[in-house]
Amino acid sequence: MASQTAQDCAALESQLVGKSVVTLDDLTTDQISLLLRKASYIESNPRRVAHACDGRILATLFYEPSTRTRLSFETAMLRMGGHVIGFSGTQNTSVSKGETISDTVRVVSQFADVIAMRHPKEGAALVAARAAEIPVINGGDGGHMHPTQTLADLSTIEKRFGRITDLVVGLCGDLKFGRTVHSLIETLCRFGNVHFVLISPDELKTPRYVIDRIEASPSCDYEEVHDLQDVIGRLDVLYMTRVQQERFFNEDDYLRLRDTYILDADKMKLAKPTMAVLHPLPRVNEIATEVDADPRAAYFQQVYRGMLMRMALESSLLGDPLPGFSQTQEV
Ligand code: CP
Repeated sequence: MASQTAQDCAALESQLVGKSVVTLDDLTTDQISLLLRKASYIESNPRRVAHACDGRILATLFYEPSTRTRLSFETAMLRMGGHVIGFSGTQNTSVSKGETISDTVRVVSQFADVIAMRHPKEGAALVAARAAEIPVINGGDGGHMHPTQTLADLSTIEKRFGRITDLVVGLCGDLKFGRTVHSLIETLCRFGNVHFVLISPDELKTPRYVIDRIEASPSCDYEEVHDLQDVIGRLDVLYMTRVQQERFFNEDDYLRLRDTYILDADKMKLAKPTMAVLHPLPRVNEIATEVDADPRAAYFQQVYRGMLMRMALESSLLGDPLPGFSQTQEV
């Protein structure tokens, strides 16, 4: 964690203005640290930031179902005084007449100041970012990336541990199709000093390109295991995931694998008292509801922190300062 001068921070701020965020590689580690710091500031000063984006318009273009991500982007803008337009599902839009992503975002660029988009196809957000005249934030593109979920995850880990390094992080379930897992691993590798415990059945193992990122990190390493019970006692963070039915080609495979891991109160007895349980949600069966009352369950706080991080991101990409935010705190 480096101490930064006001000049450094001003440069970081200005580099963010007008940017699109398709993957977290679009943000430097310093910029991610700045967003974490802004989210903390917003949490402590909700009234001071209530007009930070007065008059701004966010467009949410959601071609695929969502509850948290879309509502979180929208609430983030509303909580800063801005407005929201957009669609959720394409049935009543010109997408159903065959309009391309590029044309849609070019059109929406005439109406809005920033776009948040979700699409079932990998690469769709990049296509949109290249065509748009305003910043595009990827709210999930197929099985590829979900960068703002990762910002929510990082903020939750930081809030629990006061750091996002020097941790043993277990990821459990569908590590093949889970885009949030891929984004989180890649980003934690950039900050370093994480031991990953990758817990999945053979059919849902972490893709090779994600493993390559861990192997390229000088201070991170990993192990791949099948049993959650055997490793839960060693974990600081347990990131549970849903088996992604919508990405399976074969219904039988989905039915066979969907209940492989169920975190319940008995398994929680084996975990450290300080372990944090994260889940991007929605869950199906993989976390029993009896775990919700356990103070180690962090998944609803994760939703709240996702909104704070989206507030930080939206205001930064728009170049709208947060009143009272200090440029020179430790990051
Ligand atoms: N975590 C997440 O992306 O949830 P939604 O699909 O509801 O947006």
